[in-house]
Amino acid sequence: MVNEKTYIMLKPDAVKRRLIGEIVSRIEKKGYQITQAKLMTLDKKVIAEHYAHLLHKPFYPNLEAYMTSGPVFGMVVEGENVIAGMRQLMGPTNVYEALPGTIRGDYANNTTENIIHGSDCKEAATIEIKRFFG
Ligand code: PPS
Repeated sequence: MVNEKTYIMLKPDAVKRRLIGEIVSRIEKKGYQITQAKLMTLDKKVIAEHYAHLLHKPFYPNLEAYMTSGPVFGMVVEGENVIAGMRQLMGPTNVYEALPGTIRGDYANNTTENIIHGSDCKEAATIEIKRFFG
């Protein structure tokens, strides 16, 4: 039983569609604890840092435009096995593979505008929490 922390970010479409409450409620019902949270407007520099491994991808300009199009809601979420657990709750990046019952499966229909980000491992969680919460 390992208590972990992860960085979860509700993307601009989630905020615009007034889904913060609903998604936060799902995370809490699963038994995870939100220990920090804030609305932020991200600039191109922090997006380039966060998605550094994707800078060369053809979809990067769209991703950058989308992620800077409005506020995001960043959270530190804590709980047992929360990194893998949150990724299960979110569903896969490819929304066409995301099953109903997952957050992306229920709310997203586009792989760029896919509602939510979650750290993919402990190392990424540490870096992302530092990046967004200092
Ligand atoms: S990869 O390909 O495994 O290195 O990428 P990954 O770490 O899974 O993250 C991909 C992130 O880019 C966002 N994005 C897209 N992915 C694939 N195809 C398209 N067209 C696309 N547009 C945006 C995707 O939502 C992932 O964002 P995060 O925030 O990491 O979930």
